[in-house]
Order: sequence, then C-alpha cells, then structure tokens
Amino acid sequence: MNTKRTAQLLSGFLLCIAACCNSWAQKSEGLASTPQMGWNSWNKFACEIDERLIRETADAMVQQGLKDAGFQYVNIDDCWQGQRDADGNIQPDPKRFPSGMKALADYVHGKGLKLGIYSDAGATTCGGRPGSRGHEYQDARTYARWGIDYVKYDWCDSPGLNAEAAYTTMRDAIAKAGRPMVFSVCEWGMSKPWEWAGKVAHSWRTTPDIYNCFDCEFSPGFSTGLGVLRILDKQASLRKFAGPGHWNDMDMLEVGNGMSEDEDRAHMSIWAMMASPLILGNDLRSMSESTRRILTNPGVIAVNQDKLGVQALRVLADGPLEVYAKPLDGGQWALMFLNRSNQAADVRHDWKKQVLVDDLSQRSVDFKQTIYRWSDLWSKKTGDTSTKLEARLAPHSVLMLRLSGPAKP
Ligand code: GLA
Repeated sequence: MNTKRTAQLLSGFLLCIAACCNSWAQKSEGLASTPQMGWNSWNKFACEIDERLIRETADAMVQQGLKDAGFQYVNIDDCWQGQRDADGNIQPDPKRFPSGMKALADYVHGKGLKLGIYSDAGATTCGGRPGSRGHEYQDARTYARWGIDYVKYDWCDSPGLNAEAAYTTMRDAIAKAGRPMVFSVCEWGMSKPWEWAGKVAHSWRTTPDIYNCFDCEFSPGFSTGLGVLRILDKQASLRKFAGPGHWNDMDMLEVGNGMSEDEDRAHMSIWAMMASPLILGNDLRSMSESTRRILTNPGVIAVNQDKLGVQALRVLADGPLEVYAKPLDGGQWALMFLNRSNQAADVRHDWKKQVLVDDLSQRSVDFKQTIYRWSDLWSKKTGDTSTKLEARLAPHSVLMLRLSGPAKP
C-alpha cells in the first residue's frame, strides 16, 4: 500500500473515531428547550417512597390538571435503590418497588408522562444507597432499558472527584445508552457548574437544598437549607449562563408544603421569573384547591416557559421592595414587584421615571415613548403604563405583570 493511501485510510479512521466520540459526547439535544416541568419525591417524602406513590402521583398529575398545565416528569429521588446484582446491575429496592422500574415507566408513559430517576456521582448517594461511581455506563444502559427519561445526578460521597469530569462521564454514558434523557446536575453550586455544565447537562443546581421557608436558613451543622429569598439572592450573577437547554436550577418547589398562600405565590412567581426548572415538591394527591391553582396558573407558567429563555434581572431595589424584569418573546416583558418584608409595602411605580434596560438580551423600553398594556397574572386586573401603578403588597407577596404592547406607537 502506498504512503498516500495509508494516510487516507488513517485519516478516515481517525475521522470515524472522532465522529463516534462526538456522537457519544453530546447531552441529549432538543430537551429542556424551556425549563423542565415535573414533580420530585424528595421535598415531601424523602426516603418514604414506593411504586404506589409514584403511580398515584402520575394519576394525580393528570387528574389535577397539572399535566395540562405543562408538568410532565415524574421524578423518583433518592432511596429507590436496592443492591447491585452479581453482575453489578443496580436493582430497585424489592420491597418498595416490587414490580420493577420498567413496569413503572410503562405505567407513567401510559399516562402521557415521563419518568425520572436519581443517582449520585459518588459510590453512595446522600441517602446511603449505591451511587453510580464506577458503574456509570452500566447504570445509564439500565435506565435506558427501563425507559427512564430524566436523570438527576447528586454529589454526595464525592471527595477527590472533579465535578466537571464526573458529570461529563455520566453525560457520555447517557449518550452512549442511546435514549434521550434530561440530565440534571445536582452539585449544589460548589464548583460553579454554570461555568462548565452548559454542554454537559440541561440544568444545574445553583445552591444547597431548599428549606421550606420564605426568609430563613437552616444550618444544623452538616448541611445548609436555604429559604426562598436566600436562593433568589444567589442567582443575580448567574443569568447570563441560562438559556434554552441549559438552566440555573433553584431546586424543587416547596409550594403546598406549609408556607402561606402569599409566600407560595411569591415562590412560584420567583421561580417562573428566573427561568428555573419547575419541579413540584408537594403531595399532588392531597393538595388544596388553592395550591392547585397556584401551581397551574397559566400566565405564570407561560412566563417560565417563554421560548426566549432569558432569566429575569433585578431592575430596582427600594428597601424591602424589589422589581424584577424578564424579557419575553415577541417584545413582551414580565415584571415582578416583590415585597421581601414581613410588613405590608406600598408600590407607587411611575413607569415614566425608569427606562427598562437589559444589556444581556439587548432589549429596552422607555415608557415615556411607548405605552404598554399590563395584566396582573394573579389577580387578572389589567391596566397600562400611561398611569402610575399603585398597589399595596401584603408581607412576602408579589405583584406579577405581563406587559404587552406597545399599546400605542
Ligand atoms: C441531596 C440533594 C437533594 C436530594 C437528597 C437526597 O441533598 O441536593 O435534592 O436529592 O440529596 O438524598
């Protein structure tokens, strides 16, 4: 064989390897082009989970109108795992999931929903079950065989591991398994995943776990839980990293788990404005009508799911009162007035005094030049920006508006 021919063959071979590697080295494309919406078992049930809960949750998601509102993933968090078999294949806990994961996935798919699962980059999960360390490709193949659609991947038992490398291994394992799965990094923001996870995953947790309160923090020593406002305050510098297919994850919702109605509405509004995944964390089988209405508010969900995928920015801070703005598709905007305080606060907003500017999306509005119509996404009131906005905000509450227009050129 002449040298030229050998070189051609070699370059063809290398190209082929590059193409193969490349096709392994992609996260599943086309998923989470808007923030993922679903439910997760952890916030409400922790390790008290079984297949019946998952089936009943899928039923409730349909019956309570959550599926119609856009929620689709039913995600099993930690503690579903039993032991690995002699070949190292992970098995579900036989007492809690006796029918197996394939049957559960079939059930959930039969409802038009998708099934998610949880694992960990370390050898053990946070709940002390087998993690995926050293079994990444095998586990991803197992998930694909079961029909799993979503993998949340945690970071316990990870000393000495490099986060980017560990998550990239699982991304590649999922790609190799050949079934599209949303890949959700849960590394609590420790290695600044927003800087590297855009190519690796569809979302990454930005903070330690959420704690079920509006404005508090819980640090029992070994871990920290952050209330709604504490999580919000950690997002300011991260907005430029979010966009279609790669989101800052503010953790699962606590709506319906005991905060006041105003706090729950504010919590839902904040997550929507910040384009965070909306993963419900309450018991869907027994929620109140008011919780159901908060979780299914179409206007608020539409802000979260807006196809532009721009995370809100804070445009005004006046004591406990803050204003956030989110540019929306079609020249529209969402605005949120947030009362952080536990006292009522008055909003007197003169639109003409502030030009709304977002350098990131290169959008701006000068309300002196342009009048927008607004609609209040919670109370359904309407108005326009030709007159001052006046409202009294209850403690820990929001006013959330969609601005459409211009009403006049
Ligand atoms: C970590 C995660 C939580 C949850 C638990 C499960 O704390 O951040 O969201 O998955 O582990 O053990």
